[in-house]
Amino acid sequence: MSSSTEAPNPTDKPQKSAEQGRETTDTQTAPSSNTMWGGRFSSGPDAIMEEINASIGFDKALFRQDIAGSKAHAAMLAHQGIVSKEDVAKIDHGLNTILREIESGQFTFSRQLEDIHMNVESRLRELIGDAAGRLHTARSRNDQVATDFKLWVRDTIDAVDGALAGLQKVLADKALEHAAVIMPGFTHLQSAQPVTFGHHMLAYVEMIARDRSRFADARKRLNECPLGAAALAGTSFPIDREMTADALGFDRPTANSLDSVADRDFALEVLSAASISAMHLSRLAEELVIWSSAQFQFVRLSDKFSTGSSIMPQKRNPDAAELVRAKIGRINGAYQALMMVMKGLPLTYSKDMQEDKEQTFDAFNAFSLIVAAMSGMMADLEPNEKNLLKAAGSGYATATDLADWLVRVLNLPFRDAHHVTGRIVALAESKGVDLHKVPLGEMQDIEPGITEDLMDVLSVRKSVMSRVSYGGTAPANVRKQAKRWLRTLKREGFA
Ligand code: ARG
Repeated sequence: MSSSTEAPNPTDKPQKSAEQGRETTDTQTAPSSNTMWGGRFSSGPDAIMEEINASIGFDKALFRQDIAGSKAHAAMLAHQGIVSKEDVAKIDHGLNTILREIESGQFTFSRQLEDIHMNVESRLRELIGDAAGRLHTARSRNDQVATDFKLWVRDTIDAVDGALAGLQKVLADKALEHAAVIMPGFTHLQSAQPVTFGHHMLAYVEMIARDRSRFADARKRLNECPLGAAALAGTSFPIDREMTADALGFDRPTANSLDSVADRDFALEVLSAASISAMHLSRLAEELVIWSSAQFQFVRLSDKFSTGSSIMPQKRNPDAAELVRAKIGRINGAYQALMMVMKGLPLTYSKDMQEDKEQTFDAFNAFSLIVAAMSGMMADLEPNEKNLLKAAGSGYATATDLADWLVRVLNLPFRDAHHVTGRIVALAESKGVDLHKVPLGEMQDIEPGITEDLMDVLSVRKSVMSRVSYGGTAPANVRKQAKRWLRTLKREGFA
């Protein structure tokens, strides 16, 4: 977690510049004690207290959401006559200025001001004076942070969805291109039955579709606005929560003020969805590692996504794939960490909950990176058709086709056919040849009904072509499914 103070928002490019060259302590704007706490504390916090208490190092990533939330809140306060229109106009103008300052890297963040909320509010006071103090009417940092974080998670879901759709597109394109490329299909990493490369690509397209739908589900559930729950109990001011919810793109306001400030289940849900998706990418990454090895040589990774060895000149290391395989560690780690933070917390807000953000940011930073890396790797990937075909034919991969033939043509019960096939495979093994090289006469010694026709189904091509059942690996199926996915993605705007 040590390097995760970076803003992780995958959509917000300018954040980098907002962070460059600045430290979290400052001399310009920070007073010696925390002015936002008012007069109750006479001396500034001890340095260690400041360090453990401050979240600005990471929650500055919420600046856009924080400013958007404040603008919506201020507009509502004016509309309801709680704060004068003149003051709200000043507040709004000041917030626009702050947004520009942060985006352009002009803003000086202060650790003494603890978090993004108080950094923004303190700067607002510098810019517009006393009117700034009215912004926090009918609001607390508790509903503010819940709102900001939800908005961030929602923005992140949208960015992640686009990135995952992009990866689906890459995979579906590959599937269409290599719909008839034959490769071994494995169970237990043992040769099982021949399949097509396109079919294998589409397996991941399906997984990623479910990943996307998990994020979409989480998005629906989280899309209720906590703003206006105030500290925990609601407020006596005549606020309009529908108005702020609407302004911020939420479906409705949250219905219980205690729940609004107390839960972070929305973050856990997306971390869980990200973990599952990262698990899928990790499996594909592992396949790339195996497939690109000198022993397999099923695929060639492009130079862009492999590295050389400093000592062994023959090597092309699949580093990017290995790192995609590994990143789930920190992504699921963040899920587990937040679950541990939340368990056992009494309602409502506790400062423990400040630990919700840093690892979530880090996890989605990593997740966005692995989706991008996988998209790049897969787009450049070239299957080695010759090697794949050769491997597909080894390991008696058409034994099931043989058994099916005995059932279909000789009307043997499948269990008997399985037994006969087992004996033929053993024979082939003892002769050290593939199934189609076992002399017909010797097969007939085992099962007299076998005829020359059987030889036909022992070819891997025939085997693959015959798998026409819905969801099966036949090239015609694969083409159909790949085209269906490409149409769907186009309709969704990811052409
Ligand atoms: N920085 C805090 C957090 O991330 C904001 C909320 C603080 N609220 C409070 N009552 N101390 O959780």
